[in-house]
Order: sequence, then C-alpha cells, then structure tokens
Amino acid sequence: MKKFLIAAVAAAGVLAGANAGAAVDAAKAKQLATKYNCMACHAEDKKLVGPAFKEVAKKYKSDAGAAPKLAGKVKGGGGGVWGSIPMPPNNVPEGDIKTMVEWILSM
Ligand code: HEC
Repeated sequence: MKKFLIAAVAAAGVLAGANAGAAVDAAKAKQLATKYNCMACHAEDKKLVGPAFKEVAKKYKSDAGAAPKLAGKVKGGGGGVWGSIPMPPNNVPEGDIKTMVEWILSM
C-alpha cells in the first residue's frame, strides 16, 4: 500500500506538470468526490451530467489560475462553460474542495 501511494503521488506529480511537487493524494481525493456526490454528475474519463474530470484537466492545463477559479466554481456553482446545464453550489469545506480540484487538475 505504501509503495502504491508513493507511485501514485509520483505519477500525479509528473502528470500535473505546472503543479509538480504539489503531492496529490488521489485515493483520498477520489474518496472525497464520492462522499460529496461529485461522482453522481462527474466521471474521470467520460461526460455524465458534468464534464469528465480529464477534460477539465485538459482545458485548464496552461491556466496557472485554474485551481482557485475552479474551487470557487465548485463551491458556488455556475454554468456556461461546458454547456447549458449549470452545476449547483456544493456545500463542501474549502480544504476538501482544494484536495479534489488538485486531483482533477492532475489528471
Ligand atoms: C448536479 C450535478 C453536479 C454535481 C453534484 C457536481 N457537479 Fe461539477 N459540474 C456539473 C456541471 C453540469 C458542470 C458544467 C458547468 C458549466 O458548464 O459551467 C460542472 C463543472 C465542474 C467543473 C468544471 C468547472 C469549469 O468552470 O470549468 C469542476 C472542476 C467540477 N464540476 C467539480 C465538481 C466537484 C468537485 C463536485 C463535488 C463537490 C461537483 N463538481 C459536483 C454538474 C455537477
């Protein structure tokens, strides 16, 4: 398990590019996303109600300010970026939002 975590963190660091060094605990982030029902509308690699998280990562790859912007959107909700369906506000603590957004952007 420990070995796996190290490998996952290393892989996330490489994939994150601009975020390299900011260790993302993917297993924890995924657990949070499940707990807060994000996965009812999102999947990692296909569109459900909302965009695939991998598509989100691709879209904001070269946007240095993406993390705070997306955190604000997850918290307050909003629409118009991916289509006509808006995302409702999510009542989730800031720290957990940050963990999930880092995970999404690292995909
Ligand atoms: C009721 C369905 C629903 C739930 C629940 C939901 N989302 Fe979304 N999400 C959407 C939709 C629809 C969009 C596209 C909004 C748009 O076009 O601007 C979206 C967009 C996003 C984006 C991209 C925002 C952008 O501006 O590009 C992120 C990141 C995201 N969601 C993360 C989350 C996280 C994390 C959670 C859990 C706390 C969550 N979502 C819960 C439906 C949902």
